[in-house]
Amino acid sequence: MKILIIGTGYVGTATALALAHMGWNVTGLDKEDRIITLLNSGHLPFFEPDMEEFLQKQLGKGNLRFTTKAEEAIQNQEVIFICVGTPAKEDGSADLSYVKMAAETVARYMRNYTLIVNKSTSPIGTQEKIVRWIRDAQPKKGAVPFDVVSNPEFLREGSALRDVLQPDRIVIGSDSHRATAMLRHLYQSMKCPMLVTTPRTAEMIKYAANSFLAVKISFINELARLCDKVEVDVKDVASGIGLDPRVGGSFLQAGIGYGGSCFPKDVEALLHTARSYHGQLSILERAAAVNRQQQVYALKQLKKIIGSFQGKTVAVFGISFKPGTDDLRESPSLHLIRRLLQKGASVAVHDPVARLPQELGDEGVKQYETPERAAEGADAIMINTDWPDYRRIDWKKIGEVMREPVLFDGRNMLDKGLIIEAGFQYRGIGR
Ligand code: UDX
Repeated sequence: MKILIIGTGYVGTATALALAHMGWNVTGLDKEDRIITLLNSGHLPFFEPDMEEFLQKQLGKGNLRFTTKAEEAIQNQEVIFICVGTPAKEDGSADLSYVKMAAETVARYMRNYTLIVNKSTSPIGTQEKIVRWIRDAQPKKGAVPFDVVSNPEFLREGSALRDVLQPDRIVIGSDSHRATAMLRHLYQSMKCPMLVTTPRTAEMIKYAANSFLAVKISFINELARLCDKVEVDVKDVASGIGLDPRVGGSFLQAGIGYGGSCFPKDVEALLHTARSYHGQLSILERAAAVNRQQQVYALKQLKKIIGSFQGKTVAVFGISFKPGTDDLRESPSLHLIRRLLQKGASVAVHDPVARLPQELGDEGVKQYETPERAAEGADAIMINTDWPDYRRIDWKKIGEVMREPVLFDGRNMLDKGLIIEAGFQYRGIGR
């Protein structure tokens, strides 16, 4: 099959690689010259474990290429995936302008029946909108038949490759037998359940999945605050309830809250959808509020040990929104750094991969190449991203270079006993 992927961000690139790996003939299309040049030379425009080597392998096989030339790329494709961004607008709703632009470009240049697959996370009813946008933009003479299906993507940053090659499930939201049959054929080598639904249901599944996980995280985060009061370790509670298969152990790690390019945006978008239908998702509303408060809570906990932040130096370990990525979008760590600065603290940071934004550098925040350097002379360390590297630190040694050996484990990732043994005052969330 000849397949085009429009948009070569995380989802687009990972999808292109998975489809090329299955043996299909894949082209990736993007507007940005820089990104296309990088991809064609075997390099990624972002950090993702193992993906660069996989890209080079697929390029070597000769059935994958990247281009900026829309007209040439769109003609004579059998399947076109839309994998463009759907950023949040001021009111929380998803901005569909990139999806619309992609649909109109496809309409202009497609020459034969084409199956258009929307993978961009977009609100309920978007598949119908794409059908309309394409119809309206097709040339009067020579309009060709087409189908549009919704096929949401569930990959996670940091494990994107594994997630696209071995997904838990494939959801196809389709109202056309022909389209469903084509996608079944396309995904024939995938050994996972395939769920065929209406397009609207598929769109809802994507938002419901991310929202449910966000609720799970906020549940354990709020419970962690109570655990602090009643002197119970939330990690043991999470293990105790997670062993029940009806609850499940994943996404029960308490910490400074969820971030990233998906959860905050998708939760707001679903809340916006509920409001626009005069409905309410009160549990989800609370989950979003708990997530916002979690950072305030974290600082309060640290303040209990070090007193005022004024004139203190805090070493922040980890700035990306989670380990395994250099993505800083909606990173709880960056929000915390801004709050620390507002409270009069100086901040030194370390991250094994992510780079500090210029704007924070201008405010005096310094990034160091090793955790030890970042911790020199600090009054406290805050672990904001649970990079496995931080488990291998010699804490006794680090404690010696600090002004005060205080550690706030914002991801509950370390063995509390070992840290206390190394001479630290330790505080986590709900521990
Ligand atoms: C998420 C979904 O998991 C994925 O299915 C979807 O396709 C895109 O959005 P991603 O944003 O890459 O993926 O990250 P994820 O691993 O889900 O983590 C999101 C945030 O939640 C991170 O900030 C992470 O630190 C936080 N988190 C996760 C917790 O605080 N506790 C947990 O137990 C799990």
